[in-house]
Amino acid sequence: MKNKNNTKFEKTFLNRGYLVEKVEDSKSLNYINNVIQKKIQKLLKTKKKINFNHLHKIINEKNLNKIRLSLINHINSDKNFKDNYFNIAKKMLEEIVGNELAIQNNINLSIQLPNDESSLLPLHSDTWSGDSPFESVLWIPLVNCYNTKSMFILNSKKLKNFNKNFNSKKIKSVSDLYNKHKKDLKFIKIDHGQYLLFNQNLPHGNLVNRTKETRISLNCRFKGLFTPYSQKELGSFFSPLKLRAATKIGLEYNHPGEN
Ligand SMILES: [Fe+2]
Repeated sequence: MKNKNNTKFEKTFLNRGYLVEKVEDSKSLNYINNVIQKKIQKLLKTKKKINFNHLHKIINEKNLNKIRLSLINHINSDKNFKDNYFNIAKKMLEEIVGNELAIQNNINLSIQLPNDESSLLPLHSDTWSGDSPFESVLWIPLVNCYNTKSMFILNSKKLKNFNKNFNSKKIKSVSDLYNKHKKDLKFIKIDHGQYLLFNQNLPHGNLVNRTKETRISLNCRFKGLFTPYSQKELGSFFSPLKLRAATKIGLEYNHPGEN
């Protein structure tokens, strides 16, 4: 069933650790945009269409967190949001992660205002804080992202060296690690209309957004349903998203002798 493209994507994901591709379903991207646009308009009591790039002109660092949390609650209570989110990269997730999938219960939303020092995500790998190495992150920007408006990820070829430094006695903090590997961390250029699927075992993070535009982006983890879980378990943190027919039959099966 594999075609040449699939092999290419698989190779890139294995070697580089991430893919930036055009969204698979533009209707779903519109759905996501509209839900967020309408909620921000409601929160800011305006009927004018908001250009997300200019959000910092109408909100400030003080009300940022309240708006962010309201948005997160809102998108996660919208019953169609998750399906639309999955549609953004459904084929690629099936190719890279699996055709029986679990999805994180809550989709995250980030807002990075220009020069806001309160929304930083220092260099980290998700596996350092309870995620299993079998998880991948689907990251969807609602604006074009570049330089510090985007997120950075470690050049996968430097991972061995990074891990060596991680254990070095000379390295005392994450910021030491960051400084040591500054040149190996690349900001991902990605436009609205594209998605990023990345290996969260690779160290990544962001810096203060020094561009003149706001970033809004969404992120959510996916994993093979039957791959090992770490502290973030099936039920409390992940839910089954896609089960195949034979699996459904197997899960519902009772041996006649046990009835
Ligand atoms: Fe992360």
